[in-house]
Amino acid sequence: MTLAGKRILLIIAGGIAAYKSLDLIRRLRERGASVRPIMTRGAQEFITPLAVGALAASHVYIDLFSREDEQDVGHIRLARECDLIVVAPATADLMAKMAHGLADDLASTVLLASDRPILIAPAMNPKMWQKPATQRNRQTLERDGVHFIGPMEGEMAESGERGLGRMAEPLDIATHVEGMLAGPKPLVGLKAVVTSGPTHEPIDPVRYIANRSSGKQGHAIAAALARLGAEVTLVSGPVTLPDPAGLNVVHVERAEEMRDAVLATLPADIAVMVAAVADWRVITSAGQKIKKQPGEAPPPLQLAENPDILKTIGHHELRPRLVVGFAAETEHVEENGKAKLQRKGADLIVANDVSPETGIMGGDRNRVRLITHAGIEAWPDLSKDEVAERLALWIATQVGGSNA
Ligand code: C5P
Repeated sequence: MTLAGKRILLIIAGGIAAYKSLDLIRRLRERGASVRPIMTRGAQEFITPLAVGALAASHVYIDLFSREDEQDVGHIRLARECDLIVVAPATADLMAKMAHGLADDLASTVLLASDRPILIAPAMNPKMWQKPATQRNRQTLERDGVHFIGPMEGEMAESGERGLGRMAEPLDIATHVEGMLAGPKPLVGLKAVVTSGPTHEPIDPVRYIANRSSGKQGHAIAAALARLGAEVTLVSGPVTLPDPAGLNVVHVERAEEMRDAVLATLPADIAVMVAAVADWRVITSAGQKIKKQPGEAPPPLQLAENPDILKTIGHHELRPRLVVGFAAETEHVEENGKAKLQRKGADLIVANDVSPETGIMGGDRNRVRLITHAGIEAWPDLSKDEVAERLALWIATQVGGSNA
């Protein structure tokens, strides 16, 4: 009963994924939460208030101008009398309203009136999700501190199209809610440093060597540690993700800058090195753009090895109590992970198979194995957010401070 006593206001908007909200209600309630549902007009085209009300064991709020609903609690109280607002599914339309502060029905009015944390699980056709307008709204909402889970990659229920747009699974949403609300914050008073994203190694002022890391996993881990109360510094390479709220973000480009930024955070209690740091930098890096000379051979690129940040931290005199590394491998994942644990002086290596067919690099899901000196634990295929949530909880069991 990890959510015992927690009050969730669940806003169901109109999309085919609304059928999953019925399961979400059960998942939240079996964890001890009470669920008060609001349905938009669109939602009622997909599932009935009767089903929602029965599963939630609650009145279902529908109408902004219903005298009955307003006398019962009223939209302002609805907006405030909860620990968390979950919008699932969140349609492109509702996201747009939220981003612009519109309030023309009960759901949007409550969202505008509320001062509670908000978690939204978007679900829409992939083309709608990719549209610049929707992406602008997502960015605005993220900047406003709205938490997102998904959308996930997969097949669309109505059209059979594949792409980003599926609503996150109810179990993943429930886990995320736990992460946001679950009782004590076991990492309060502890300092964590997390690296994320790729590094860019300049060839000249306009060209660089990079890799396909998106930063999604590292950013999610930093945010999850912060939710458990840790004081987090996220050292991020160049990514297109917004800075997660509630933590200190240092932006760097090159591996050497990343190392300096990480070392500057010491002493720290926890280090989680997720970044895909370039192994080499270009020592012939030019101050001016290298010109193509007709008839001349291409310029040679001379590489030097970059500092290994994880290894440096793992053997540092100010070594954090818990040092976690990642191993992006395409073969012999476990063997390489174990060797890495030794070599880098880490307590845990999170090994994942990044062969192109897994779609993990840059994707939204991850399947990891936890390799420690005690053994190996295989986790199922999870969203990167859920991997982050679970990893943060795992870390808390290892170093849990006084509040654990
Ligand atoms: O040796 P490999 O690159 O496979 O090790 C991966 C792990 O080491 C990751 O945790 C990564 O963040 C870290 N690493 C690092 N600095 C490097 C190379 C890797 O911190 N130069």
